[in-house]
Amino acid sequence: MHTWTLETTSPERTRELGEVLGRLLGPSSVVLLHGELGAGKTCFTQGLARGLEVAEDEPVTSPSYTLMNPYAGRLPLYHFDLYRLVSVEDLVDLGFEDYLHGAGVTVVEWADRFPELVLEGLRVRLEHGTENSRRITLEADGEPDGQLLDSLRRDWAIGGDEA
Ligand SMILES: Nc1ncnc2c1ncn2[C@@H]1O[C@H](COP(=O)(O)OP(=O)(O)OP(=O)(O)O)[C@@H](O)[C@H]1O
Ligand SMILES: [Mg+2]
Repeated sequence: MHTWTLETTSPERTRELGEVLGRLLGPSSVVLLHGELGAGKTCFTQGLARGLEVAEDEPVTSPSYTLMNPYAGRLPLYHFDLYRLVSVEDLVDLGFEDYLHGAGVTVVEWADRFPELVLEGLRVRLEHGTENSRRITLEADGEPDGQLLDSLRRDWAIGGDEA
């Protein structure tokens, strides 16, 4: 497994990391977000949407009450949040599997909410540090996500001094 851990020191830096990843994603990508309330999962997704060229007038908010919000970008973005999901059946009814394997990018907040729901994708674990810092660990299990993670590290290093 490839892993990479870094720290961001502001919400905007976390968005930027998401943005750099968003620019690299291809069809059928799955990004699984882990972390407590307020860890920065939605913040990261906002940046990812930017990287997918979702229009700025379509703000990305937590889809807690709807389970999934779709956004139109360079590729479709399907933003799931499983926090308030009651049963995995509800996800199945929504056609979750079709989204995962479809042409768009699927992002899942609270991806570990249901142990019986086994998901594969690039994992992003966000943990609180001091007030504005977050430790972010990215995990890729095999390819092509391993290569994606390498590209992300490279692009982050190139753009790293700008912000
Ligand atoms: N370095 C940082 N990265 C991300 N968010 C940060 C950072 N520092 C402070 N914050 C703040 O932490 C909060 C993160 O909120 P966000 O909604 O993204 O969390 P979440 O993980 O999606 O929570 P929830 O589980 O409730 O959906 C925001 O208020 C943001 O401004
Ligand atoms: Mg959220």
